Amino acid sequence: MIRKINGIDINYSDEGSGLPVIFIHAFPLNQTMWDDQVAALKDRCRVITLDLRGFGNSDVPEEPNSMDQMASDVRSLMADLGIDRAVLVGLSMGGYISLAFYRNYPDAVRAMVLADTRAGADTEEGQERRMKSAERAVRDGASAIANDMVPVAFADSTIEKRPQVVERMRRMIQANSPRGIAAAQLGMAERLDSTDLLAGMDCPVLIIVGSEDKLTPVAEAERLRNRIPSSRMEVIEGAGHFSNMEQPEMFNAALMKFVDEIIASER
Ligand code: MLT
Repeated sequence: MIRKINGIDINYSDEGSGLPVIFIHAFPLNQTMWDDQVAALKDRCRVITLDLRGFGNSDVPEEPNSMDQMASDVRSLMADLGIDRAVLVGLSMGGYISLAFYRNYPDAVRAMVLADTRAGADTEEGQERRMKSAERAVRDGASAIANDMVPVAFADSTIEKRPQVVERMRRMIQANSPRGIAAAQLGMAERLDSTDLLAGMDCPVLIIVGSEDKLTPVAEAERLRNRIPSSRMEVIEGAGHFSNMEQPEMFNAALMKFVDEIIASER
């Protein structure tokens, strides 16, 4: 479904009823990365996914595409759908956006799942890498970015034994606009450090990380867990950075337990 949000077309889906749970996808994927989680949760809560601006079937923005802008899109979509508070589930860039959302709209957050992500900003070196990657996306196309990501995005066992997961990621990336990819890279390069927020977070937080995540390793997840008072952490064995696609059953078990606890606490 398409809605005009903050002046651009945003493609989203909205299934089930009850507690609203909004899934925010990783870079440079789209909302279908959450298909297994939507299938698992839609009978117990209201599940919303969206293609962030620049990705999937949503409009492509001007550069750079900031985390604050995408957080504002999520907030405006919630308002349009009549939702005051939601559980946010963000993986990697989705986690950066969830933290930006918490900074700007803390009262709209019921609980949060931070998967395979970090709170810190980029180093100067990291920012330079993103500039180069943004240029490469525009020059060489989305497939080049997909090729760059495969070796670092997955656990070795996923690459060896579950090539269909790698192909799924490749298809998502290749379908994206190079300009959308570049805009998000530049937006991530300028994102704020969210570390100062963590100690004050007063909602339940589940931190999930793949045991073999090379991009946002277990040590990053531990940093989040140590700083966020009401948090706990689940390590997904045999998963890399895209833990929800690599080990959906384990990811879903952790997610459903967390969501069920929130639902039970509201009865
Ligand atoms: C992601 O999966 O969203 C990216 O790895 C985030 C990043 O490039 O920092």
